[in-house]
Parts: sequence; structure tokens; C-alpha cells
Amino acid sequence: MKYKIISVVGARPQFIKLAPIYKEFEKYKDIRHIVLHTGQHYDFLMSDVFFKNFNLPKPDINLNIGSGSHHIQTGEMIKRIGTKLERIKPDIVVIYGDTNTTLAGAIASVKLKIPIAHIEAGLRSFIKYMPEEINRVVADRLSDLLFVPSKNAIVNLAKEGISNVIANSDGFKRGNPPYVIECGDLMYDILKIVLKNVKDDERDILGKYNLERRGFALATVHRAENTDNEENLENILGALDEISEDLKVILPLHPRTSGILRKSGRLKKFRNITIINPLSYNEMLILEKNSRAIFTDSGGVQKEAFWLKVPCITMRDKTEWVETVESGFNILAGADRKKIISAFKKTEKRFEPDSDKTGVYGKGDASVRIAKFIRDFLRWR
Ligand code: UD1
Ligand code: UDP
Repeated sequence: MKYKIISVVGARPQFIKLAPIYKEFEKYKDIRHIVLHTGQHYDFLMSDVFFKNFNLPKPDINLNIGSGSHHIQTGEMIKRIGTKLERIKPDIVVIYGDTNTTLAGAIASVKLKIPIAHIEAGLRSFIKYMPEEINRVVADRLSDLLFVPSKNAIVNLAKEGISNVIANSDGFKRGNPPYVIECGDLMYDILKIVLKNVKDDERDILGKYNLERRGFALATVHRAENTDNEENLENILGALDEISEDLKVILPLHPRTSGILRKSGRLKKFRNITIINPLSYNEMLILEKNSRAIFTDSGGVQKEAFWLKVPCITMRDKTEWVETVESGFNILAGADRKKIISAFKKTEKRFEPDSDKTGVYGKGDASVRIAKFIRDFLRWR
């Protein structure tokens, strides 16, 4: 094998983003693709389930870092990723999104002068102390290939002085890294693939959870700004519980949130909310597709609602995925009980988003473009 590429992943959305890229790298006979899992997420339903879901082999390396305060978790990751990189000497490291794993992958690589490709670059919430904002700002600054999902991400990077946008591999010849490459959103690739494959399972999965098409809403809550603030979490759960008497709310609960509720004795029975364990990707997609509305503070789920054309109420004050809001698919309601309920009522009365806008994150071929660009970059260097 000519080229060694390491993907550094560790959290749920990164296993999902890895899936289409993994399959693309496999197509190149001169690439050896090594998957390094930091162990940031480790429960079966937060990690292994996705490797099974997408028929991915077990990660080549699992550092089993586990949970901890941000500086300790990230520090430990930098140290141990660095040790592996020193030994393996990859030609490039691929990092995904904006988690502590992303940040650690970037710092460990740059310290060893290994080029970095950042997938999902250029996103900004402009909230300085939001953990994910810190991670993506630093990761972008250190990366050589910045794969952006949208035009808006190009603008964000240009404002920070990262402005060498290239349309194809010839661009490598015309200037030095970092390169900004618009490629669409990788999560659209996997959504399209899985949607095709799960058609026959829909009825069974809805039956398993006792749900009917459009007869329920789906919710997810895990962001620090919501879970670590007692009032915000109360407001969100209160709103979901009183949305409507005849609309069940299914809440596959992130372990962060269930841990917090359990500790404070608030993991009680709700009137309208049914709490279930985190779902596999296939199940999640089926529930998203068939729900009447989606309530979320997740980044990935906002986009999936957008592609599936399901009304989305985002329980945050700001979103990085501004296009979903601009097109009318997504309403920002913060952690405000009244706003969440009224946003939902609005979608029930009238939901006529601008369907022409669903192409803003590409066509679902990001993984093909990204893998090719990375290989071309390695050949050119
Ligand atoms: C992380 C990311 C966030 C991303 C989310 C995806 C950071 C700073 N945050 O948040 O951007 O949206 O992943 O889901 O990287 N826990 C378990 N089992 C697990 C994993 C976590 O019980 O398998 C619990 C632990 O109590 C842990 C808490 O969840 O302390 C938070 O986990 P952590 O990975 O630190 O952050 P997330 O909230 O998952
Ligand atoms: N997801 C899943 N099962 C769940 C909840 C979410 O498969 O129980 C998927 C979801 O469909 C999306 C991704 O996980 O593809 C989003 O991850 P998460 O919300 O954990 O992180 P974020 O996108 O906010 O970083």
C-alpha cells in the first residue's frame, strides 16, 4: 500500500460520518485506511451498534479514553493519539466534526507535522465557550484540507483568513495549503444509502415501538447548554410533555442526559414523553422519517429532518446549520417552554418550507469527492 490514512473518531456522529468515507477509501487499492477510536463514546448503543449497523469492521485501534472533564479527556487523547501516530506515521489524518476527539486528533497530528483533513469544516455558532465551537475553530485553523458542506462555511472561513478555495485537484498546484473544498455534507450520503436499504423494515420498527406513521414526535436532547442547566432541561422536558395530549413524544435519550436526570431523581414517568434507549442509525432514521415533528438540540438531527422534510424545532438559541432555518424547515426555539410549544403549533398549522433549498448541502456524493481529493492530495505532495 502506498498511502496510510488514519481516521480519528470517537463519538456517535463520527461513526456515522465514517461509514460512507470508509467505503470510498476501500475502493482505492493503494490506500491503507486505519480507524482510530478514542473511546470518547463507549456504551454499546453509542458506539459498537454503529459499526454493526454499517457493517464496518471493529476499529483498528481503540484507546478506551472514556468520559471525563474536557481538559483531562482531551489531554489524554492528545497524548495517546500522538503515541500511535508516531508509531504508524500516516500520510494524513482525517478528523470529523467538532468533538473533543476532533480537537485532540488535530493537535496530536500538527505537533507531529502530519497533514490534517477536516470533514465538516467552517461551521460556526459564534458562541465562544461552546465546547464544539472551541473544537472546530482550532481544528479548522490547524487543518490542510478543509472539506466544507456549504457556501456559508466558505464565508465563515474566509472571515478568519482561510480563503484558498479550490474546485478540483489542479488547485493544489496553484498555492499552498490550507485548501478549502466544497463537497456537500457527508451525512447526506449515508442517509440516502440507508433510506434505500431500510424500506422493508419500516413497518416492523414502527411496530416495535408501538408507533404509527405521523402519529408521534421524535425528540433528542444532549447539548451541554441544555443538560447542564437545570432550568433549561426542565423547560425542554416540560414543553415536550405538554405539546399535545394526543401526540406521543419518543425520546431516545443520550446517556449524558439520562445520567443527569437519574442523579437528580428526575428520570420519572412523563405523561406524553416515552423515554427509550439510544437507537441504531437505521432505527433512528425510520423514526425521523415517520414522525410528525422533530424536537432536537443535535446538529446531525437538524440536517436529517431537513433532508427528510420533517418539521424541526431546534431547542437552541443558535444553530450552525443556518440554511435549515433560512429555508423554513427548522425553527429555533431555545430552551423556552412557550416558544417550543408555539413553534410546534405553527408547524401543525402551516408547514410550507422552501423545498428547492434542500440541495444546499450537496447531492449526497460528498464521500466520493472527499476520498478522491485526499488521495489526489497525497499523490501531489
Ligand atoms: C459529545 C460531543 C458533542 C456531540 C456528542 C454526540 C464534545 C465536547 N461533545 O457530547 O459535540 O454532539 O458527543 O453525541 O466532544 N456517556 C456515557 N456513555 C457513553 C458516552 C457518554 O454514559 O458511551 C455519558 C458520560 O456520563 C459522559 C457524558 O455522557 O460524561 C458526556 O459524554 P461526552 O462524550 O463527554 O460528551 P457528549 O455530551 O456525548
Ligand atoms: N442518532 C442515532 N441514534 C439516536 C440519536 C441520534 O443514530 O438515538 C444519530 C442521528 O440520526 C444523527 C447522529 O446520531 O445521525 C447525531 O448525533 P448526535 O445527536 O449524538 O450528535 P451531534 O450531531 O449533535 O453532534
